[in-house]
Amino acid sequence: MDKIQSFIDQRVPIKYINIEDDIISYDNQLELVKLINSHIDQNAYYFKNLLSKYIKKLELSNEELSDEVYDLFVDPKILNAKELSPDTPDIIKYHVNGFTSIAKDDSNKVIIKETPRLISGNNTTGLRTWEAALYLSNCLNDQNILQHIIPFGLENKTILELGCGTGLLSLSLAKIHHKTRPLKKIIMTDGSMTVFDNVQEVLKLNDLESDNLIHCQQLIWGEELTIKSKIDVVIAADITYDSRILRPLCQTIAELFQYKDLKLALIAATVRNIDTINCWEEELNNWFPNRWETTKSEKDPGSMKSMCFFSPNTPEIRIYSIEI
Ligand SMILES: C[S@@+](CC[C@H](N)C(=O)[O-])C[C@H]1O[C@@H](n2cnc3c(N)ncnc32)[C@H](O)[C@@H]1O
Repeated sequence: MDKIQSFIDQRVPIKYINIEDDIISYDNQLELVKLINSHIDQNAYYFKNLLSKYIKKLELSNEELSDEVYDLFVDPKILNAKELSPDTPDIIKYHVNGFTSIAKDDSNKVIIKETPRLISGNNTTGLRTWEAALYLSNCLNDQNILQHIIPFGLENKTILELGCGTGLLSLSLAKIHHKTRPLKKIIMTDGSMTVFDNVQEVLKLNDLESDNLIHCQQLIWGEELTIKSKIDVVIAADITYDSRILRPLCQTIAELFQYKDLKLALIAATVRNIDTINCWEEELNNWFPNRWETTKSEKDPGSMKSMCFFSPNTPEIRIYSIEI
């Protein structure tokens, strides 16, 4: 049930959810009903489709359909459910405690309000969570991987996120890493103010709204650096997708090294377009000669062993590291 729970939490498309033989046992039918009831109000249509697939599997097996599953399937909330429009937000819970760990309860999951089917809206691509953020979040919250990509660790460090979007990356550190190895401060930045309206709600969903750890600030790449604190580590995901913003982005990172004592920047990038990635690497060579490398990469994220779902079509994801 762990994997199906994590996939439901993440709203993995139903076609990718494999209903294994063991999850149709009577006990697991009851558990599934409980799980669906706790999510139903956010996206009943999703669960209508899941239950259809589940019941088809039951019909092909020797297992009996429980009254509880039947009652839920014919509940008007499910029966009358309509597909959410692409701009209606859903509440998605991500298991990002390292690729193979399961988050048992909400205190270990990152809860994000987002519009997963909207690529861009209100002049930002930051109202849905992108694959590189999922990948880097899992890496930063897995102690074995973390010590490879940040040898000095994150404990008691000030971290700044560039282009935070929905906030998964920073919130994963605040909810998971910070619990056992406390951080000093997290500064979430983005160029879009719309993103921050959403981030305020997301902080509340994660019980982090009154936490002193997290600070939010607008930061537009290439514009004046208004950050007050010294920064130890910069993190970012999926911010290298447009060749026009790569130069100002590198300028901002260079200024953080020059004026804010930055020691290391980790930028996760999905290789969607090789020309754009080549431009990014050219800019890295111009701004940070002999100071950058690809510190970790995954050629085929969809085939990774992971509690978190990556679609089979996800292109390669690379983590670029830039040092002082
Ligand atoms: C593809 S989204 C990635 C969001 C998030 N990091 C993730 O991976 O889910 C890119 C983010 O960069 C922000 N962004 C784009 N251009 C920017 C700029 N010039 N200055 C600051 N932020 C920018 C967008 O508002 C958006 O939130």
